[in-house]
Amino acid sequence: MHEYNEQQLPRHIAIVMDGNGRWAKRRRLPRIAGHRAGVEIAREIIKNCGEKGVEVLTLFAFSTENWRRPPQEIRALMDLFLRSLQKEANKLQENNVQLRFIGNYQAFEPKLRDKIEEVQALTKHNTGLKLIIAANYGGHWDIVHATQQLAQLVESGKIAAKDINHELFAQHLSMADLPDPDLFIRTSGEQRISNFLNWQIAYTELYFTDVLWPDFKIANLEEALHYYATRQRRFGCTSEQLEVVA
Ligand code: IPE
Ligand code: IPE
Ligand code: MG
Repeated sequence: MHEYNEQQLPRHIAIVMDGNGRWAKRRRLPRIAGHRAGVEIAREIIKNCGEKGVEVLTLFAFSTENWRRPPQEIRALMDLFLRSLQKEANKLQENNVQLRFIGNYQAFEPKLRDKIEEVQALTKHNTGLKLIIAANYGGHWDIVHATQQLAQLVESGKIAAKDINHELFAQHLSMADLPDPDLFIRTSGEQRISNFLNWQIAYTELYFTDVLWPDFKIANLEEALHYYATRQRRFGCTSEQLEVVA
């Protein structure tokens, strides 16, 4: 297997944690048992990314489309989010993790929304891993939200329409202060984006694995990191140009 060195470690990893339902179904368990097992795995991966020195880890927890699921599954997921936050907040704090949410979490019930805000405030000044949870997040939502903010700036005369360029637009998206993801991982064999960080993954390396999220081990993360280390990121240049610089 290709070894990787510290310089080849992605600064930002984004994961679509998929396959919880199928994992549970194979065990004849209710879907929520899969989500619960998924939270355990997320905890391991968060810890390991922190130890490795990854700067940012973004986890897709609930998409704007997941509201289409049966109400009892949504309710169980919301309960699980709340309980996980209650349980993990102090651990995150001890481990110097900065927890942030992206997405329209204002739409969640007040108890969950308040807890999110409380944990964000608690961990705000931590200098270790930046853990971003995408909750009620959609790439389309992100782009529309940025557009609304820019439109307001134009409307109030603070900027002119022609001032809108790539940089200004990106400044109004989620995680504007953070580097874009270097590595995107999706588990469970699906090879699609499902409305996750559409803008931000323009040049991200994509890694897909058949492993279901509750079965995803540190060894699977290592595999993804090895894969990443073999990639030559050209950003539109030719290989020859990059070899000259290297
Ligand atoms: C991902 O697992 C978790 C969420 C979307 C909340 P799924 O629940 O989508 O699992 P599958 O795809 O049905 O197996
Ligand atoms: C994407 O998974 C969302 C999360 C992992 C939270 P889905 O399981 O909802 O995606 P689709 O519907 O299969 O594309
Ligand atoms: Mg799924």
